[in-house]
Amino acid sequence: MLDSHFFSYADGTLCCEGLRLDGVAEQFGTPLYVISRQSLVSQFKAFEAAFAALPHFTCYSVKANFNLSVIRALAAEGCGCDVNSGGELYRALKAGVSPDRIIMAGVGKSEQEIEYALNSGVLLLKAESVSELRAIDRVAGRLGKVASVAIRINPNVTAETHPYITTGDSKEKFGIDEAELGEVFGLFRSLPSLALQGLDMHIGSQIFDPEYYVAATQKLLDVLDSARSLGFDIKWFDIGGGFPVTYDPQKPATPIERFAEKLVPMLEGQGVTIIFEPGRFIAANSTVLLTRILYKKRNHVGKEFFIVDAGMTELIRPALYQSHHEVLSVTRREESVVADVVGPVCESSDFFARQRMIDNASEGELLAVLSSGAYAAVMGSNYNGRLRPAEVMVDGGEAKLVRQRESYEQLVQNEI
Ligand SMILES: Cc1ncc(COP(=O)(O)O)c(C=O)c1O
Repeated sequence: MLDSHFFSYADGTLCCEGLRLDGVAEQFGTPLYVISRQSLVSQFKAFEAAFAALPHFTCYSVKANFNLSVIRALAAEGCGCDVNSGGELYRALKAGVSPDRIIMAGVGKSEQEIEYALNSGVLLLKAESVSELRAIDRVAGRLGKVASVAIRINPNVTAETHPYITTGDSKEKFGIDEAELGEVFGLFRSLPSLALQGLDMHIGSQIFDPEYYVAATQKLLDVLDSARSLGFDIKWFDIGGGFPVTYDPQKPATPIERFAEKLVPMLEGQGVTIIFEPGRFIAANSTVLLTRILYKKRNHVGKEFFIVDAGMTELIRPALYQSHHEVLSVTRREESVVADVVGPVCESSDFFARQRMIDNASEGELLAVLSSGAYAAVMGSNYNGRLRPAEVMVDGGEAKLVRQRESYEQLVQNEI
């Protein structure tokens, strides 16, 4: 069981902030995401406390969980937003975040997205290629604006994590190669509608070893020196997100303070404001996916399956990244069993747990898939004609619907 103040058993029933999850499922149906608001806020505060010694601006990476209520809860605490597309920018603005507290990433922003960002007045556009810089200049010029730009550097640091979520390596598509920096600095001199205001990197996600940050930050500091020696006034120094969380109690994440211990001495006194873009760290353990056991079956080789009403359409991480999620019975059972917890989708990769010892819950009972707050609902799909589930947010013992369950009509509403 993950050590969480926000999801814990009381009298044998799993609760969120003290609210019984069986009651929540009864009220809102399943599959259902249950988000603890207090968990979101407490993770944000823990992050802020760790880096309090630095002048900094934390921009929650909206891609981790873009529900408007999640964005609002964090913005209310003073958190900014890092968005990766026009759609995420729309969400952040819709949630009431001031544009000057929004920064925009994205390796392939379209001209429409650049125009939308510039017209909205975002704080920074993070550019990832020479061609993109030219596009930003073109669009800004057309609009009669000067774009505030940060350049995302590819520091060529290969962080040890799942290969699909390492982004700071020269093999990957992200960022500007160091060999191109001369040309890039030249562009800021020659193109009239660009202002170089920041340096940026993001080396990946779920990174356990602070040394990867140290290596990449050192490279970015070297770029800061070069930029300054050329006369650029750099205000923002963005070291991205990627800070880890515990999914599997056997593999506890490195505490955030260990990252701060290494990074604060490197970054203090540099005369820049540090931007952080944590996503997973804030959202992952804020949410459980509640699902009901539809059927149980045991095959002739003695393998037991729990077939539940949620699937890879709600949480693709086990299929995509072979990731571990704890699965708990909402009502505690004395007896356990080794089983596969699988969904209803027609794919063998549609599973939450394989050969896992879990409480021997019965058909019709509820399971909770933990750590379903980041890269879960946002990666959901309608594959197999499945309806996107409802989401509720619990705050101080009360559950509020923050996303309605999709209907069959909505499933086809954009089709002719
Ligand atoms: C540019 C950028 N910033 C921040 C993040 C957030 O990463 P994490 O959720 O691991 O903190 C990502 C995620 O991949 C990203 O691409």
